[in-house]
Amino acid sequence: MQPARRLQQIKPSPTLALNAKARALAAQGVDVVGFAAGEPDYDTPAFIKDAAVEALRQGFTKYTATAGIPELRAAVREKFQRDNGLTYAPEQVLITVGAKQALYNFFQAVLDPGDEVIIFAPYWVSYPDMVRLAGGEPVVVETREEDGWVPSPDALRAALTPRTRAVVFNSPSNPTGAVLSRKDLEALGQVILPHGCLVVSDDIYEPLVYGDTPFCNIVNAVPALQDRALVVNGFSKSHSMTGWRLGYAAGPAVLVSAMTMVQDQSTSNAASIVQKAGLAALGGSGAELREMRAEYLQRRDLVVSALNAIPGIRCRTPDGAFYVMANVKGLLGKSYKGQVLGSALRMSELLLSDFQVAAVPGEPFGAPGYLRLSFVTSREKLQKGLSRIAAFAAALG
Ligand SMILES: Cc1ncc(COP(=O)(O)O)c(C=O)c1O
Repeated sequence: MQPARRLQQIKPSPTLALNAKARALAAQGVDVVGFAAGEPDYDTPAFIKDAAVEALRQGFTKYTATAGIPELRAAVREKFQRDNGLTYAPEQVLITVGAKQALYNFFQAVLDPGDEVIIFAPYWVSYPDMVRLAGGEPVVVETREEDGWVPSPDALRAALTPRTRAVVFNSPSNPTGAVLSRKDLEALGQVILPHGCLVVSDDIYEPLVYGDTPFCNIVNAVPALQDRALVVNGFSKSHSMTGWRLGYAAGPAVLVSAMTMVQDQSTSNAASIVQKAGLAALGGSGAELREMRAEYLQRRDLVVSALNAIPGIRCRTPDGAFYVMANVKGLLGKSYKGQVLGSALRMSELLLSDFQVAAVPGEPFGAPGYLRLSFVTSREKLQKGLSRIAAFAAALG
């Protein structure tokens, strides 16, 4: 069977594929060290699970409004007010099946064929394909490691065209871990303001900030953008709830209503009991998150110093999220078993097949010459994996 034409230009998520490969090897008894995961290794806090169990017991098992139960939408509005200083009316909030669905709904709701969406590289792998699936065209604006992966306002200005429908921000960033400062965002927002396009702020890593730059999004930096901005967030990373599939978004009422229509005709509401779990999560003290973040900070430092000690590899210290972008360009001219490595993609394949290390190559993130390593694995495992990467580098001729 031939899939539809619009599907022929998109690819399966390479991070999910690598994870599946690593899992399959582990199931065969191979001792794989995974640096590929995009999810916390902590379990969902017990009080959140309890809320879901209680919802089940009480028979809260029917359809809800597509946009979510009123009490969860109210809790999300409170969260935006409390943590982000952003005020939204009830009809401006939508509960989704993960942050991913919020983004998907957005592109489906606003893009006409040929509309352009500006995405900064390195980018989260799903943005370009979500844009393509909606008939739009991703326009990639490069950022540079030496600039701390901060987009240049001039490069953004040069990429804006009459067809630009939206610009996507993701800070802290997957994959770079870069955190944009208020000043950076102000400069970028001022470029967007006269254009009139929409902006999306994917804030999924909001609570995972380690450095001196406090979290700030594009709407905080340039409040005049609020009436054309969609702010997306979720529970996957903040509350270790990746499998539950729960996210949310807030924006102008007309936009949220259009996104709700997309959701009406696709999945309908996020699972009823999961919404109850989300309600409990937002009412929590944040103690588990603080513990998780403190541990991640230790792991980040361990990974960064070990990688920088390997000749041919260097990496910046990420200020947020849980990924390190390792620059491996210094190794790519070397050879392994008589063959020049040539690419991070090849290096990733060899690391998995010969050294049992799963690390995602930069190519699918728009960052050839880099490997993305997540540090959501125990310190012991990280150390083991880092020694294997060092052994691989030492084995190169
Ligand atoms: C940048 C970014 N946005 C969105 C998501 C999707 O998160 P969710 O699990 O809430 O769909 C991810 C997940 O990896 C991500 O890295």
